[in-house]
Amino acid sequence: MRRPLIAGNWKMNGSAALVEAFGKVFADAKLPADVDMVVIPPFPYLDAARHAFSNTPLRLGAQTLNPLHSGAHTGEVSGRMLKEFDVAYALVGHSERRQLYRETDEQVFERLMAALEVGMSPILCVGETLEERDAGHTMDVVLRQVGHVMARLEAAQRCEVIIAYEPVWAIGTGRTATPEQAQDVMAGIRAYQASFDTSLAEQLRLLYGGSMNANNAAELLAQPDIDGGLVGGASLKTDDFYAICQSA
Ligand code: G3P
Repeated sequence: MRRPLIAGNWKMNGSAALVEAFGKVFADAKLPADVDMVVIPPFPYLDAARHAFSNTPLRLGAQTLNPLHSGAHTGEVSGRMLKEFDVAYALVGHSERRQLYRETDEQVFERLMAALEVGMSPILCVGETLEERDAGHTMDVVLRQVGHVMARLEAAQRCEVIIAYEPVWAIGTGRTATPEQAQDVMAGIRAYQASFDTSLAEQLRLLYGGSMNANNAAELLAQPDIDGGLVGGASLKTDDFYAICQSA
């Protein structure tokens, strides 16, 4: 049985006050003990979040990381630095990094390896654009993005990876993929993994992201190959994120 995971990607949003609010609301959490709950705030809030979340089930994630440990890379953050703040997860290849900051599949692979190297669980983000879906290329795109990474990992490394399917056309649009659409892609990703290793395919955690909210989370999470969610907008509201965690 795969352990559900709900992660909230704050993107370039949030505040110190919101960190404190999450600390208070989740400190009294009556939430399932068998669900991993992760908040992924902008870097400046990591230290405050580490302290605010100390009495909650919330773990910390990073929105990206540089593949190097240190150096002349202004504006960048390394995995080693993130580990000093108890960061346990790292997004790699989020569509906004791919589209807005021209992150290539190879750079995504390097960042994923850097996360593994420091003991963080990488969340590999993949997903197609509306044009690619309309052209019937959804699985080609998704499996290219997955394969560029997973085919090059050792079996023990592949077991640490979490994959988030985020159709680009559903991100921030309110146009959520139907449970059937999401399930179809997840089943395809899991079948692809099975070509490497059946036991890996069974244990691999697959998350859905793209306008998941308190109203649609339960139906999406009820799909057999959806093990959790990667939530954007709805993760900026304590009640909504709490409700999504309860749905897991
Ligand atoms: O990483 C999660 C994000 O891309 C989804 O955003 O606002 O559609 O939930 P949103």
